[in-house]
Amino acid sequence: MTKHYSIAIDGPSGAGKSSLSKKISAAFHFVYLDTGAIYRTVGLAAFRAGIDRHSEQELSKILPEVHIEIRYDDSGLQRMFLNGEDVSEAIRMPEISLYASDVSALPVCRAFLLEMQRRFARDYDVILDGRDIGTVVLPNADLKIYLTASSEARASRRLKELVEKGVSTTFEEVLKDIELRDYQDMTREIAPLRRAEDAVLVDTSDLDFEQSFETLCTLIEEKLPVRREGQA
Ligand code: DC
Repeated sequence: MTKHYSIAIDGPSGAGKSSLSKKISAAFHFVYLDTGAIYRTVGLAAFRAGIDRHSEQELSKILPEVHIEIRYDDSGLQRMFLNGEDVSEAIRMPEISLYASDVSALPVCRAFLLEMQRRFARDYDVILDGRDIGTVVLPNADLKIYLTASSEARASRRLKELVEKGVSTTFEEVLKDIELRDYQDMTREIAPLRRAEDAVLVDTSDLDFEQSFETLCTLIEEKLPVRREGQA
């Protein structure tokens, strides 16, 4: 059986996990799985069904009708489908972030998504990013990275992204949302966000995107027998 390499990147929202993972996976020819997008898809299903997003029972009732598919477009970008509909944009709306964070605290939701994530790592060389990849989903990942930044740095990056997408909001609102989600994600009982003991800590508060990218690529090349495209 071919050995597949797996890289786990965990950290709070807005630390740059997705954009960095996207670029790194392209450079190393790994498949990238944004696991937050899967929780967001369940969050969107809960939102549309109008259920109480804190209720294990209500979520259990709708899950048999929630069919999630992950596809990749021609440029290798992950698209999320909910019962056949492309919801890749809908899951990014700010109100869905809190739904995703709330449903992700429910054991039934985590159990529903665990195998889907592990299957990826069995089949491909992968980068998975999320909150519990190094601690729960892939405890034997070849490299674990805990990517973080101050809440202010994360809020200003997220604000820029939202403004570019035409979403009207303020720095204070984004910061409040980030801090609330950090709190929820770190204090929930099941699979809380925390740094795995063997994860390398990378703080990007004072690094721009290119510097963060270089830092992560260097780490990967030190730990795994893989090279970036174009590097000896
Ligand atoms: O990465 P993100 O902000 O798109 O994730 C949305 C929510 O999903 C996040 O607040 C917590 C949850 N999540 C999780 O519990 N476990 C993961 N592996 C990824 C995301």
